[in-house]
Amino acid sequence: MARTPDYFQGKTIAVTGASSGLGRSAAVIFAREGANVVCGDVDETGGAETVRLVEAEGSEAAFIRTDVTRREDVRRFVAEGIGQFGAIDFLFNSAGSALRRCGFLEIDDTLFDKSFDLNVKGTFYGMQEVLPHMLERGSGTIVNVASMAHKRGGPGTSVHYASSKGAVVTMTMGVAREFAGRGIRCLSISPAAVNTAFQASSGTSSEMSERLMQDIPMKRNAEPDEIGELVLFLCSDACQFMTADTVYVSGGGGFR
Ligand SMILES: NC(=O)c1ccc[n+]([C@@H]2O[C@H](COP(=O)([O-])OP(=O)(O)OC[C@H]3O[C@@H](n4cnc5c(N)ncnc54)[C@H](O)[C@@H]3O)[C@@H](O)[C@H]2O)c1
Repeated sequence: MARTPDYFQGKTIAVTGASSGLGRSAAVIFAREGANVVCGDVDETGGAETVRLVEAEGSEAAFIRTDVTRREDVRRFVAEGIGQFGAIDFLFNSAGSALRRCGFLEIDDTLFDKSFDLNVKGTFYGMQEVLPHMLERGSGTIVNVASMAHKRGGPGTSVHYASSKGAVVTMTMGVAREFAGRGIRCLSISPAAVNTAFQASSGTSSEMSERLMQDIPMKRNAEPDEIGELVLFLCSDACQFMTADTVYVSGGGGFR
C-alpha cells in the first residue's frame, strides 16, 4: 500500500498481458486505487473484459491490441497510452508463457526463439519504448515478471522458459542500475505457480503440478491478486529504495 493517500489517483499504468492472469489482476487493483490502465495483449476478448472490470472500479482503461514480440506494436501501445492519458507512470510487463513443456534435448530452434521473443524481447521492447518518456519526466517504475523457474533451471520441462526468465532478472537489474540516478526504478517478481491460465496453456500435467506443490511448504499456489497487490506496493512510494532486485513469491518453497 502507498504511504501517501491517493498516491495512484489519476496516474497511469501500462500493462502487457492485461487480458488474463497477473496482468488483469494488476489492472483491476490499480483501477481500484484510481489509476488509468493501458491494456495491451493479443487477446482482444479478454482485453475487453479487463477494460470492463477496470471501468467497474470507476477508472478509465484503453485496450490496444499489442503483440509484444513486435516492436512496432509495443511502440504504438506506449504512444497511444500517452496520447490518451497524457503520461505513463508505471509499466507492468506481464505478457509471457512457457509455451510448451519438454526435456532439454527436445527444445527445437522454434521453441527456443519463441520463448526468448515473448519473454525476453517482449520485456526489452516494453522497457525501451517507455523509458525515453519516463526519463523525460524524471520518474517511472517498471515491474517485470520473471519466475521462480529462473532459480531452478526448469530441468526436464522448461529450460527454454527458465533461462528466458533468467534473462529478465538480469535485464531488470541492468536497467535499474543504469537509470537509478534519473528517477527510474525497475524490479522483477519471481513467483512460484500462480492459479492462472498459464499452467494449462503451458501444458503443465497434473503430475507436474503435484510435484511443484510438494516443494511448497504452504501447500498451495499463489492467487493472482497476491501478485497484483505486490505490483501496487512496488510501484508505490512505500519503499522507494527498492530497485534492481527480483522479489520471490514462493510460499516458502522452490529453492532446491
Ligand atoms: N502462472 C504462473 O504459474 C506463473 C509463474 C511464474 C511466472 N509467471 C509469469 O507471469 C506472467 C503472466 O502470466 P499469467 O500467469 O498471468 O498467464 P496468463 O496465461 O493468464 O496470461 C498471460 C497473458 O499474456 C498474453 N500474451 C501471450 N503472448 C502475448 C504476446 N505475444 N503479446 C501480448 N500478449 C501476449 C496472453 O494472451 C495472456 O493474456 C508471464 O510472464 C508468466 O511467464 C506465471
